[in-house]
Amino acid sequence: MTGFLEETFGLTGRVAVVTGGSSGIGRAIAAALAGAGASVVLIARREAGLRETAAELGDRTAYVVADLGERAQAHRAGDEAARPFGEPDILVNCAGINLRPHMDELDEPAWDQTMAVNLDAPFLLGQRYGPGMAERGHGRIINVASQQSFRAFGNSGAYGASKGGLVALTRSQAEAWSARGVCCNALVPGFVVTPLVTHIPADRHAAMAARTLIGRNGLPGDFAGAAVFLASAASSYVTGQSIFIDGGFSVH
Ligand SMILES: NC(=O)c1ccc[n+]([C@@H]2O[C@H](COP(=O)([O-])OP(=O)(O)OC[C@H]3O[C@@H](n4cnc5c(N)ncnc54)[C@H](OP(=O)(O)O)[C@@H]3O)[C@@H](O)[C@H]2O)c1
Repeated sequence: MTGFLEETFGLTGRVAVVTGGSSGIGRAIAAALAGAGASVVLIARREAGLRETAAELGDRTAYVVADLGERAQAHRAGDEAARPFGEPDILVNCAGINLRPHMDELDEPAWDQTMAVNLDAPFLLGQRYGPGMAERGHGRIINVASQQSFRAFGNSGAYGASKGGLVALTRSQAEAWSARGVCCNALVPGFVVTPLVTHIPADRHAAMAARTLIGRNGLPGDFAGAAVFLASAASSYVTGQSIFIDGGFSVH
């Protein structure tokens, strides 16, 4: 990178923790942050995906195996992820689950599990790292939200409620820590082709693509540039925002 680009977007010497960094959007974000120079720690449940992603990202990558749906494991993961390279400068909360029964069938276990992974874990990890970032005078929190943070469609049920909460949490974190150098923002995907949506039939994929302005569904790599922007000095006056990476889906 040239001087200007390194100063503006470079992440050399920064440490990032990326939950859900072993697959889909989180994996692409982890690769982008590593490509911009950050050391990266991935958190997810399945070790094989973590190992494979870490190997692909290179030497300054580590991982922690944890189920973020379990509160004790989320606390442990927060501590363990700070060990390989030190306390993180950047937290990306991307791990998420998408249980979508109709409201008539939405039971308490599905509600609890969705809230635990999609909302409680981002809160717990934010509490683990945010105050330290603020004390050091620099940090970035990036929460991966959803169209359903803002509107209901396709059985938004617990998922939409969790993602609406995540956007509100992003604003609360921004309110708390922005004045001490910690910018907190949400990325809002449209319909992105990842393992999360492979169960959805092809004709539905085509219908979702038709609802965008760009004319295709999202790909994990579409998040790379926005993630580096939000993680870097480039976004030092951007906080509390929800940035839609959706091919125009939300304005169509
Ligand atoms: N794809 C879309 O169209 C779309 C649209 C809007 C929002 N999003 C959001 O984007 C984020 C990433 O989704 P994606 O599409 O990239 O999905 P994905 O490919 O299925 O990736 C999900 C990641 O989260 C991890 N994860 C899931 N449950 C976990 C748990 N309990 N503890 C720890 N890690 C866990 C998974 O690893 P393990 O399974 O190994 O734990 C995986 O690394 C999610 O928050 C999702 O809600 C996606």
